[in-house]
Amino acid sequence: MTTMESAIFPTRTREILESLRASGQLKQLQMIEGPMDATVRIRGRGEVVCLCSNNYLGLANHPEVVEAALEGIRKYGAGTASVRFICGTFDCHERLERRIASFYGVEAAYTFTSCWNANEAIFPTLCEAGDLIVSDELNHASIIDGIRLAVSIKKGLLRGVYRHSDLVALREKLVEARLNAAVTGTIWIVTDGVFSMEGDIADLPGLRRLCDEFGALLVVDDSHGTGVMGATGRGTHEHWGMAATQVDYFTGTLGKALGGAAGGYIAGSRAAIDLLIQRGRPTLFSNALPCSVACSAEKAIEVLMREPQRVQKLRDNVEYARKGIASSGFSVLKSPTAICPIIVGETAKAIAMSRQLLDLGVFVIGFGFPVVAEGHARLRVQISAAHERHHLDALQAALTKIKS
Ligand SMILES: Cc1ncc(COP(=O)(O)O)c(C=O)c1O
Repeated sequence: MTTMESAIFPTRTREILESLRASGQLKQLQMIEGPMDATVRIRGRGEVVCLCSNNYLGLANHPEVVEAALEGIRKYGAGTASVRFICGTFDCHERLERRIASFYGVEAAYTFTSCWNANEAIFPTLCEAGDLIVSDELNHASIIDGIRLAVSIKKGLLRGVYRHSDLVALREKLVEARLNAAVTGTIWIVTDGVFSMEGDIADLPGLRRLCDEFGALLVVDDSHGTGVMGATGRGTHEHWGMAATQVDYFTGTLGKALGGAAGGYIAGSRAAIDLLIQRGRPTLFSNALPCSVACSAEKAIEVLMREPQRVQKLRDNVEYARKGIASSGFSVLKSPTAICPIIVGETAKAIAMSRQLLDLGVFVIGFGFPVVAEGHARLRVQISAAHERHHLDALQAALTKIKS
């Protein structure tokens, strides 16, 4: 490599970072010095109300969940030191997977070190040439990348994208697919249950009807719906009064409501899970979940199943917080979910407002490009069952102050 070529990368990198800094878009990582809860301790600031975590049920620092993690470490040690099919599957993984399957009421489940990994496993493993994957345009980045990966690996596998939650546009794609001689296999319709940036929910009954009409399979990533939606927190399908079996495959995370540590899963038919065990590259070539996490996540699901009142408390908090945001003079995108986005426009503005809120003791993150489209930057307020009314009142007071 010439000296000039070797100088390209550092120069380019510096320029990108400089332009982010100059346009006020550079993200600052906050150092949290204690557990995730209704409030957190931020280095250099002290205690602030935390309204940007996905700790929806307040289980991340629940004593039973923490104890289960410690017990996992004591019993199994730090980790698996192996991928699953060699000698990295412990009985705590089997217990967790049974628990996830019974939580949903489906045949089987399989875990990954993240839901990102689960979404990178499901499409490249289960889809084949001649299949078509149709995806909502606002699906999570891990779904988008999972589909891109699948299409790049499997020649002849097709993909399409439909306008956000637009079932008429989706139907047109499905009609086109029927006429497309290249679509000879299975059609997969893929959606988030709760959309992570808008906080709105997918019309699962409508999607199911289209699946039935066109003989398609429905995949729902319910990372933000699990533990949040439906009377018992089973997820977005429960919110709609659907049986879990009306969704063909769920993907989800253990890093939000279900204990908040890390990890993801795919849940659905036994045959699909068996194929993932045989062929899923993220599981064939990467270690299993640490046992501490397998144990803490299993405990978190047990606590959720035992205490559905946590889901009701979250719902009450969401209603209260949404009213508070409205009375502070901001408008929040309407939805029953725990994600309350306040659209402010430019990325720099969202980041500046987030700093102002932090100065007022309220921790809310501003999201801008490339996480959301240019011009649609927002503050994303996230509510937890761990919050008490005074935390939500502090949010309202801070928003009122920055509005004036
Ligand atoms: C809808 C959705 N899917 C997948 C993921 C990735 O989850 P994990 O952190 O387990 O990789 C996220 C995380 O933000 C998400 O919001």
